[in-house]
Amino acid sequence: MILQAAAQVGGGSAIVLGAGALKEIPIVELAERFDRLVLVEIDLDATRRALRTCAFPQSAGCEKIELIEGDLVGLKTRLSREIQRCPAVTTDHRCGIDRMCAVVEAAQVQPLESGGPYDLVIASAVLSQVYKPALDEVTSWFEGRFPDQGDALRQSHEWIDAVGRMAARAECAFIGHLDHLLLEGGHSRLYLSATTRYSALHATAEGPWASPGIFTMTSRPTLSDYLPDTWNIIQASSWPWVAAPPRTAGQVGNLYRVEAVVVGRADG
Ligand SMILES: C[S@@+](CC[C@H](N)C(=O)[O-])C[C@H]1O[C@@H](n2cnc3c(N)ncnc32)[C@H](O)[C@@H]1O
Repeated sequence: MILQAAAQVGGGSAIVLGAGALKEIPIVELAERFDRLVLVEIDLDATRRALRTCAFPQSAGCEKIELIEGDLVGLKTRLSREIQRCPAVTTDHRCGIDRMCAVVEAAQVQPLESGGPYDLVIASAVLSQVYKPALDEVTSWFEGRFPDQGDALRQSHEWIDAVGRMAARAECAFIGHLDHLLLEGGHSRLYLSATTRYSALHATAEGPWASPGIFTMTSRPTLSDYLPDTWNIIQASSWPWVAAPPRTAGQVGNLYRVEAVVVGRADG
């Protein structure tokens, strides 16, 4: 689908948001097709490693690729700074949880400046986890400060609700940012995919997998619930993705539902 979207655009500039290890990104073909290719990632180590293993033809070397390291929603540094202000004397983990909730509730999303606009914008498997780097940062602060109280935090209803609201704000701002990055009118395209559902898969002695249930990974039930009226769906698809299938009884694997769309501007 990414290459189909790229073919509709015909060339120019493209950006990949949350590039990661480029597992789903046909990077060589994109480098061949576009004059400018920007990769954005919060931790570029895996992206750099993946680029070193790519077989770019001489005519489409990786010198046209620009790397930007940063947080797409600007939450990680902000939350980290705010949580550090927690008074050092606090030894009661319940005060720590209150502080965590207050910091997360107050967190303002600030989309990353990443140039553009672009002819093709690719946001593959990043929407549902765009707030996660910030969440991991403050959670590890809490666990460092209050060892053995990680479960108390994870089970706190106030915390679960506060994180849910931050996730919804981050997703919403991310979608708004995609709109901002997409070139006005013409043939510009956005490829957007997300893992919207998750099930843990337990291998059983009897053979078939068992699952305790299906969990929604995004604040809104389906990808189409995020799409503004100004976008036209050109192609839509969904598929199951089993990551690390469990082979023997006791092993746990992950089953995701992936949804993807290629959209253009309704006025394009
Ligand atoms: C599931 S991977 C998908 C990687 C790639 N897009 C693909 O489809 O193969 C999601 C990537 O998004 C990155 N990411 C998540 N939140 C981010 C954020 N707020 N800012 C920048 N990158 C982020 C993660 O570090 C990870 O590499």
